[in-house]
Amino acid sequence: MENPRHLMSPLDFSVEEIDALMALASDIEAHPDKYSHACEGKKLATLFYEPSTRTRLSFEAAMLNLGGKVLGFPSGDVSSASKGESVADTIRVISCFADIAAMRHPKEGAPMVAAKFSKIPVINAGDGGHQHPTQTLLDLFTIKKLRGSLSDMTIGFCGDLKFGRTVHSLINALARYTGIKVVLISPDELRVPDYIREDVLEHNHIPYEEVTKLEDVIGKLDILYMTRVQRERFFNEEDYLRMKDFYILDNAKMALAKPDMYVLHPLPRVNEISVEVDSDPRAKYFEQVQNGVYIRMALILTLLNIHVS
Ligand code: NCD
Repeated sequence: MENPRHLMSPLDFSVEEIDALMALASDIEAHPDKYSHACEGKKLATLFYEPSTRTRLSFEAAMLNLGGKVLGFPSGDVSSASKGESVADTIRVISCFADIAAMRHPKEGAPMVAAKFSKIPVINAGDGGHQHPTQTLLDLFTIKKLRGSLSDMTIGFCGDLKFGRTVHSLINALARYTGIKVVLISPDELRVPDYIREDVLEHNHIPYEEVTKLEDVIGKLDILYMTRVQRERFFNEEDYLRMKDFYILDNAKMALAKPDMYVLHPLPRVNEISVEVDSDPRAKYFEQVQNGVYIRMALILTLLNIHVS
């Protein structure tokens, strides 16, 4: 492919392109058969240097649904990375085997390095605590389906806002819509990084507040985005143990929320949402997973420049 297009950050797509992607995902959802041979003869490589169930299998399901094939590795220790191969060399090699690649890496920026050396489109499937653009696309798609619009809402982010890359990516993406208010709910130690507060929220004049208690603010939210405390990014286990059960969303807290406040979570969930909330019609985290397959199908088609009429 000449100059392949990559996806590193949700801002790599314009608002119009994200609209087009969501429209395509909706069409795929409504008419899956129309797309079932669209990627025949194409291969997706999933290069996962960090554990994942949902994201990797969601990418693989997306490619299989499009009639394509998949290959790859599920962790750094079973790839040549364990022999010391660089990401640049790995992607040069993978470019000979596959038509498109999705890469997850514990190091921030690793997929950008891969993109630089790649002959095929590279999708950032999560890099350290930095970005997770495909999660953001599925979050946007889910919010749009639930509310009809991505503008004019108060969204609360709760949990590990320091290391949670899904939060960083989604805040970046929402900064381009109008009428967004952000409520950041975290323990003091897990507040969003300064660059999100200063370069994204303040720079874009987005009203925001930072609080520690979920109960104090849940009543004003339209969307509550819960997150897991990111154990693997902590420097010591003691801090993790102190923080891990800081928030537990249960039915008592849900009773304080608006009747049309939706709960999202990128999953995996640990203890931060009690299982009793799963049967609340406002709990939408499992729908997000389904939407993720449609949006990744739309993304693969778009980056491969495949049009289905
Ligand atoms: C998220 C991730 O990997 O950042 N998971 C996912 O991709 N659905 C969230 C998390 O691991 O907590």
